Amino acid sequence: MGLIEGIKKAGKELARELKDIKQAPFVQEMCKTASNMYRLGWDERNGGNISYLLDEKEVAEYLDLTKVLRTLPFMGWNETEFDAKPIEGKIFIVTGTGKYFKNVQDDPETNLGIIRIAKGGKGIELLWGYKDGGRTTSELPAHLMCHMARLAIDPENRVIMHSHPTYTLAMNYVHELDEMKLTHTLWEMCTECIAVFPDGVGVLPWMVCGTNEIGIATAEKMKEFRLVVWSMHGIYGAGKTMDETFGLIETVEKAAQIYMLTAHLPRINTIKDEDMVKLAEYFGVKYRKDFLNL
Ligand code: 13P
Ligand code: ZN
Repeated sequence: MGLIEGIKKAGKELARELKDIKQAPFVQEMCKTASNMYRLGWDERNGGNISYLLDEKEVAEYLDLTKVLRTLPFMGWNETEFDAKPIEGKIFIVTGTGKYFKNVQDDPETNLGIIRIAKGGKGIELLWGYKDGGRTTSELPAHLMCHMARLAIDPENRVIMHSHPTYTLAMNYVHELDEMKLTHTLWEMCTECIAVFPDGVGVLPWMVCGTNEIGIATAEKMKEFRLVVWSMHGIYGAGKTMDETFGLIETVEKAAQIYMLTAHLPRINTIKDEDMVKLAEYFGVKYRKDFLNL
């Protein structure tokens, strides 16, 4: 290559335009999902939070990854640290604390942030967003601990979602909060439940939210379940994609709705355990046999 061509090429590289981040598929997905969750009534006020593990190469098309806007305190309200070394350098898009899901679509740059876990796993670098000086959801300990737990089982896991779905929450007040019993009742409520969440639903007792303790307990459950109910608070879901994770919570919520619409009425018909086995076998899913009364 001649000198002139070389200079031209270098000039082009320097002028390489970054794409508009607001058009990035991952920002769009966050906006659409938050709006959906709000419209379904699952996420009142600032209720709920989402974190989404991004592909560094994809993010580099939109952001200069050498530019750190701010460093953020690591964790939830109590700002106590924990070891996030296994995910150091990983980039996530995360909803902001105190931010309303209903506002994400209109102003993603204020309500969302793109963060990178700093070297050593002991801090956060803000690459984009939280424009008003905001910071990550107070549930970041639970989210990051769940990401670490799920990634160890499934390297494709990218999404952790927390929500306060109405019927799931209502059911918490009138149904025993036992993993086997709760899962069994949910499986009975819609034919496809056992195929959608064959691993069942984990349950935590009521705990103070936004703490490392609830994060540790949720992540422990996530080794076994992709869905974890926080008693009388809400639910956590984990999945490969936004659709899969949303779909898991949506299916639990639908089953809880059927339960709440029928729990006070005499039960005449039900899906039997033998039927659930037929279904799980037909769909070829590995289900919790110990959650059935066979
Ligand atoms: P954040 O506003 O900090 O995300 O908290 C919402 C919530 O649902 C707490 O459990
Ligand atoms: Zn919550």
